[in-house]
Amino acid sequence: MEPILAGDIEVQSYLGPGDERTLADDVLDGLTRPLKELPPKHFYDARGSELFDAICELPEYYQTRTERLILQSSAEDIVEVSGAAELVELGSGSASKTRVLLDAMCEAGTLERYVPFDVSATTVHAAADTLVQEYPGMSVHGVVGDFERHLTHLPEAVGPRLVAFLGGTLGNFPPGSRRRFLRGLRNVLGSDGHLLLGTDLVKDPRVIEAAYDDSSGVTAQFNLNVLHVLNRELDANFDVDAFEHVAFFDRQREWIEMRLRATDVQRVHIGKLGLDIDFAAREELRTEISAKFTPQRLEDDLQAAGLELVELYTDPEDLFAVSLSHRAGG
Ligand code: AVJ
Repeated sequence: MEPILAGDIEVQSYLGPGDERTLADDVLDGLTRPLKELPPKHFYDARGSELFDAICELPEYYQTRTERLILQSSAEDIVEVSGAAELVELGSGSASKTRVLLDAMCEAGTLERYVPFDVSATTVHAAADTLVQEYPGMSVHGVVGDFERHLTHLPEAVGPRLVAFLGGTLGNFPPGSRRRFLRGLRNVLGSDGHLLLGTDLVKDPRVIEAAYDDSSGVTAQFNLNVLHVLNRELDANFDVDAFEHVAFFDRQREWIEMRLRATDVQRVHIGKLGLDIDFAAREELRTEISAKFTPQRLEDDLQAAGLELVELYTDPEDLFAVSLSHRAGG
């Protein structure tokens, strides 16, 4: 596709018509299974993104502020160890974490380029426009795409690359695809690059469950919002009020699950698919898994993907971890 040039900014988009198909496909695939399921990426329409931002501010949701604190205290070290000239940020949502890293690179005198990668063109352009002004001399090459499919379209590195995948989003991948995805990340590091990964840690299930079932009900609204997305995008008729929010930590699998439970029998028509879906009373639809890691599990996953842990940064309470790794054997 056409690159859009604007001074030091270049943005390339790899999303095209037909990408909306994925919602229809995911619904057809996920809602016709014995355990009904939807992938969490469909939470994030405009309202869902707003609700997620609100989640990040909740007292119970420790992840965002903890990761930011960890980054603040480790950024200098991360830049020294990696020698990064280029920051690639996957899901370039929060500019506040980005700045912590860019500041450290600027300070070290290594900063050359920022590469925000996001599904939202608006997000990529906004990040590009503001940051190119704040960091004189830095260029921006934005990529609009789906990081599960378009990672190979990253531009060639301009120097040692730091690929940041923060926020704990790796936890959304089930174990098999998690390792496949990590292998994909490994492949875009180049020979001298590093991966900076944010992952939530295993801890007292009550602390985790409170973070996904907050007292003000914001997470419940976030979860239920996906039904509004289906109603609007696929011409469905979910009775949203007849579903309730469920969140529980599965100790064996070490992940939290969010589900939506039908309070009563319900037949849903999905107009665009010409499909009827029946819910039994109290039947549940799984909407998200979010894996929590032990340091050992993290190392094992990295190793299985051909990566080697270089440094593990945590907070004093061991709530969250930011890990720095590079290609194994070199
Ligand atoms: C964006 C996937 C990291 O799993 O904690 C927040 C999403 N879900 N509250 C997470 C989420 C419910 C979040 N991630």
